[in-house]
Amino acid sequence: MQANNNTNVVDGRAIAAQIQQELAARVAALKQRGVIPGLAFVRVGEDPASKVYVGRKEKACAELGIVSETHILPEKTSEAELLALIGKLNSTSHLHGILVQAPLPKQIRESVVFSTVLPTKDVDGFHPVNVGKLMLGDGSGFKPCTPAGVMELLARSGVKTDGAEVVVLGRGNIVGKPMAAMLCQKGKNANATVTICHSATRDIKEHCRRADIIIAAIGVAHFVKADMVKPGAIIMDVGVNRIPDASSKTGTKLVGDVDFANVQPIAGKITPNPGGVGPMTIAMLLQNTVRAAEIAVS
Ligand code: GUN
Repeated sequence: MQANNNTNVVDGRAIAAQIQQELAARVAALKQRGVIPGLAFVRVGEDPASKVYVGRKEKACAELGIVSETHILPEKTSEAELLALIGKLNSTSHLHGILVQAPLPKQIRESVVFSTVLPTKDVDGFHPVNVGKLMLGDGSGFKPCTPAGVMELLARSGVKTDGAEVVVLGRGNIVGKPMAAMLCQKGKNANATVTICHSATRDIKEHCRRADIIIAAIGVAHFVKADMVKPGAIIMDVGVNRIPDASSKTGTKLVGDVDFANVQPIAGKITPNPGGVGPMTIAMLLQNTVRAAEIAVS
């Protein structure tokens, strides 16, 4: 199957906007009960990408009517200082969610930080209780936003995952591992046969060529090339990589893990980057926060 126009491009911005419209009704219902969803962002240090991501999330909250506050701590902050702040946020009742932006400076252990956020406020889905619930297929926990966003993109663009061969490129805790857990779960819009490929995988190309669906979260610019893709395969590009670009003012540009120009013509469906998975991550954060508020007042 050869597609030589853009009709196979999945519009993540439009699907995220649709979800935000659905959430607006839930925010209005909460407001009628006197509750405004509240979300705290915590950023440690001045990582440029983290600044951009937190800024986008703040804007999306404001647009939906979620009240957010952002705590910016210096790069040298100790783990104890960060844990003390999280403790305060845990016990602040108008804050229904807490998001500590990763990566954190090296003196701070992410695992300790993520375990300190109350599981009921863990809108990132990183607390071990929520990770465990995901593995157990217990839907009462919060799911990590990026893989949850990919699942929504697949479902809402009509991709059948049942019985599909899916290759997940990357085994990170934020995307790869939870992505695989969601895809292989027994249930609607899941039920896939999943292979996780990583840096020690012997022949990634061979795995990819078999795949009906490829989820690229490997963190290497343009890693997925046309000769790695079965014609008609579904391609979800999670990657955000900065590469040199002489034509840009900054001298760099952001690209995904997929060589879009060459893969798009042979793919069944493909996400653009930007404008694919990224907006869905934010939509899922909003969804988790609205849900946290609903649970808190139920
Ligand atoms: N850094 C990259 N992705 C994420 C995310 O989904 N949540 C947080 N907290 N940090 C991130």
